[in-house]
Amino acid sequence: MEPLVHRLGYIALNVSDLEGAIEDAREIAGAALVDQTPDLALLTSNARHAELILHRAEQSSLRAIGLETLDPANVDEVARRAREAGLTIVSETPSLPVIERAVSVAFPEGHVIEIHTPMPRDRPPRYAGPGIHPRFLDHVNLTAADPAASAHLMMQVLGLKLSERTQGWELAWMRAGDGRHHTIGMAKSPDGGGLHHYSWEFADFADFKRLGDVLDARDRTLAWGPGRHGAGDNIFAYYVDAAGFLVETTAEMEIIADPHFQPRIVDPGENLSNYKVVNRWGQLPSQAWMTHFNICAVLR
Ligand SMILES: [Fe+2]
Repeated sequence: MEPLVHRLGYIALNVSDLEGAIEDAREIAGAALVDQTPDLALLTSNARHAELILHRAEQSSLRAIGLETLDPANVDEVARRAREAGLTIVSETPSLPVIERAVSVAFPEGHVIEIHTPMPRDRPPRYAGPGIHPRFLDHVNLTAADPAASAHLMMQVLGLKLSERTQGWELAWMRAGDGRHHTIGMAKSPDGGGLHHYSWEFADFADFKRLGDVLDARDRTLAWGPGRHGAGDNIFAYYVDAAGFLVETTAEMEIIADPHFQPRIVDPGENLSNYKVVNRWGQLPSQAWMTHFNICAVLR
């Protein structure tokens, strides 16, 4: 069966420093500000109405993830499956007025995922301004105390496909209908349900050089990279933003078109020491990268 969701729609974050987070997103990643109210900012990097949604909050946390479906009937099917699996339906009202239909589902470790009809393409495809100007928001990597259980539930309810996992399910990567190796990654964490990082897609390797220079000009540094992940075959570099989120920039992720693709099972090595899985170019991640964690917001 085809996945019920096609691609990542957006990431919504609660941020302790809204102004700082907006400035970072605009001047480092190079996203465009679409709309701003005192407590909310919408940003995008292309014609889609919003990809990065920032809410003013006391604590930085993962608020929700949007996954786009191309067929409105899939919204009903996800809601049906979620109820069948005993999950909580948080809302059946779209989180933004521009979204036509949606259902938001809370998964057991606190991840709220909104399955929604496509974000309108009502913005100019290109824009002026500082930063790198990514192509689009690419994927998220979540954390869980029990990543196998969380991943299985997301595959069951959302129709995501497993692309790759480690032998003990410490890490798992799942794809949506667009075939990208992972739209949602899942990592085991002693902190439980949360967000490890989210990722912007870059167009060219020169963008990674500019990212390093833009950070350097602000007396900041990359957290890891550039390198090439084995899982996904994507080029990567990471930095931490003003609100304390780990931001990945990526390019060249593997596309899996084969509906019968057999998931790869890989050995990450002790403390992610297997270069072939973790970084084929050699540099292994720091302890700070490995333990990075942002908690899930508790929506009331
Ligand atoms: Fe990633």
